[in-house]
Amino acid sequence: MDHGDIMTVGSRRAFLGATVIAVVCLIGAATAVGRAQTGQDTPAVTDNTFKNIMLLKGIPVDTFLDAMGMFANAMGNDCTYCHASGAALDRDAFAVATPRIQRARQMIVMMNTINKTYFAGQPRVTCFTCHGGNQSPRSDPNIALQYSTPPEDPNVRDFPTDPTASADRIFDRYLQAVGGAARVAALASFTARGTYEGFDTLFTKVPVDIFAKAPYQYATVVHMTAGDSVRVYNGSGGWMAGPDTAVPLLTLTSGNLDRARLEALVAFPTGLKQAFPQWRVGRAVMNDQEVRVVQGTENGQPVLNLYFDESGILVRLVRWTLTPVGFVPTQIDYSDFREVAGVKIPFRRKVSQTYMQMTVELSDVQPNARIDAARFAKPAPAKPAV
Ligand code: HEC
Ligand code: HEC
Repeated sequence: MDHGDIMTVGSRRAFLGATVIAVVCLIGAATAVGRAQTGQDTPAVTDNTFKNIMLLKGIPVDTFLDAMGMFANAMGNDCTYCHASGAALDRDAFAVATPRIQRARQMIVMMNTINKTYFAGQPRVTCFTCHGGNQSPRSDPNIALQYSTPPEDPNVRDFPTDPTASADRIFDRYLQAVGGAARVAALASFTARGTYEGFDTLFTKVPVDIFAKAPYQYATVVHMTAGDSVRVYNGSGGWMAGPDTAVPLLTLTSGNLDRARLEALVAFPTGLKQAFPQWRVGRAVMNDQEVRVVQGTENGQPVLNLYFDESGILVRLVRWTLTPVGFVPTQIDYSDFREVAGVKIPFRRKVSQTYMQMTVELSDVQPNARIDAARFAKPAPAKPAV
């Protein structure tokens, strides 16, 4: 199978990756709104996409990238910390077995043994547990840490819950804060223009078109210099195809597919409170402000945090994807809310992943526009970039 252009992208990431390090059940499936169904489309997996996969076999490519991002994040470095420096220019160099790749393979085996032996196979110990952003994990106690106030990370999956708080009330208040349930329900679709910038454009702004239709269809077309990158969630399946994708047609799976569903739901938030069958509520501090955290779980594991600011508006979404090396987050920050047909919409959306970062800024939004159904069809595989 063709490698597509990810390797080039990966190479750019290799240079840029260092800047991103800072980020640091199907039960009820039938009832959850727009819940994705699997199996309608066979995603490309590692062994038939890459050259030198010895351990992480049979993993869908999107999940594999999260795993690689976990590695870079845990080591506090970029892709070329382990991969040959040549990977910055030559995509085939990702397959070169460097001493650190070999070492990382040993670490995967060690980690799996620990989890299997002592944590009932749960992904409790990960690369990050020990490394925490350092190539050399610290082993001796830290006196300064003991006597200082540790910084609070709002993006934790495990937080004290507030049993008196009601998720329903938070969702209702959210609809109120953005314009009221009636106006939100009256917004049936929108199209938008704007700009996109990310690792894959070397943080240069390029034009973007957005097509969104209630309850949960969402398409983004990024007009890159090397060609269009099309990202679609059609209500059940999700894909990416463009000069920036790992394979000509990247099929979204598990957590990444569900994140696409959630992003579409956020555009038309009426259905958001049905997105998960159960919610837990807590509090956190984000940018010195107290926020309410509403968490959704899957198979008993927390996988989604939604953050509402004091005005009741959703300002952050974090969705974790379970990879073979642990849970890996994607963080989406919403800001610059402006009214469109009486509904406050985020004109700015920043997506931060362990291997990628991008920002979309809208400039022109047309409410209730007619959108051709073809916009939400599975995209054609991208032509390999030159
Ligand atoms: C901590 C070390 C480490 C870091 C950092 C790392 N990788 Fe890897 N990478 C590996 C290991 C180990 C393998 C082989 C996995 C296996 O054998 O199952 C691999 C394999 C790959 C492959 C498959 C190459 C082939 O053709 O066989 C690609 C592509 C890749 N990594 C991309 C990336 C990207 C992109 C990043 C940065 C976001 C990254 N890696 C960061 C350790 C690392
Ligand atoms: C139980 C703790 C622990 C876990 C879990 C762990 N590591 Fe390590 N790792 C270490 C220690 C300790 C070292 C040795 C550091 C040193 O020599 O200074 C190390 C070294 C490494 C090195 C070599 C660094 C160098 O200096 O060249 C790499 C690469 C690495 N780990 C990757 C990983 C990856 C990838 C994972 C997850 C799959 C992982 N580690 C999980 C403890 C851990």
